[in-house]
Amino acid sequence: MIIDLLKKAKKVAVLTGAGISAESGVPTFRGEGGLWRNYNPQELATPEAFARDPGLVWEWYNWRREIIHPLEPNKGHKFIADLEKNTSDFTLITQNIDGLHQKAGSKNCVELHGNIWRVRCVREEKVFELSDVPLKDIPPVCECGSILRPDIVWFGESLDPEVMSIAYNAVKNCDFMMVVGTSAVVQPAASFPLIARQNGAYVVEINAEKTPISGMVDESLIGKAGEIFGKLKP
Ligand code: OAD
Repeated sequence: MIIDLLKKAKKVAVLTGAGISAESGVPTFRGEGGLWRNYNPQELATPEAFARDPGLVWEWYNWRREIIHPLEPNKGHKFIADLEKNTSDFTLITQNIDGLHQKAGSKNCVELHGNIWRVRCVREEKVFELSDVPLKDIPPVCECGSILRPDIVWFGESLDPEVMSIAYNAVKNCDFMMVVGTSAVVQPAASFPLIARQNGAYVVEINAEKTPISGMVDESLIGKAGEIFGKLKP
């Protein structure tokens, strides 16, 4: 059924969250085994925390970079990358910063919250890739002498309007939307499935547990994304 709808769909949008990377070994923020319990991202991923103690915030990111660096995409990432190859109009919108979708071959990928491998100069706003693991000098410093920060959207910061506009258009215009591995509590991403549905899309959620949007989508499949995608393969 889902596979048939996907084959027929002309415009497909996929929204992913931390749960899609869980089977690769990336800790999630919430839910079973969530990173949340040992660390509180809401206290570290803020401009205030960075202004107060950039070294501490960078140590946290350094730790996360070390975890993510050796990890490989899983069946879920690969299913989504294959889906893109077989769909003429396809947009992947991810809240993840780990880069695993791109590693799996996804091309048209909108990163709502940035990317852990990119850094940004706090003075010049210059953005570049810094993939050394671990970073030896913390906090890292730009050529201009200013501190570099992760190119990530922190709590209390606005999303890039250009990125938002691409994501919003894809959500509004798709005829099939798949929502994978997100607790659907962080805005604006949490509203995307509802906007898609209001605009006529068939919306399928795949998540390890029920979420606030489970009762508002067309189908909610509860289970591990990798296993569910394995069964969806035609
Ligand atoms: P969360 O950690 O909030 O939610 C992950 C969801 O994935 C939970 O509902 C889990 O039950 C589910 N899950 C876990 N393992 C799974 C699996 N194998 N298959 C399917 N589902 C699984 O992550 P996000 O919703 O992505 O923002 O969180 C949204 C944002 O909040 C993040 O981007 C981050 C965080 O604060 C920033 O850092 C700005």
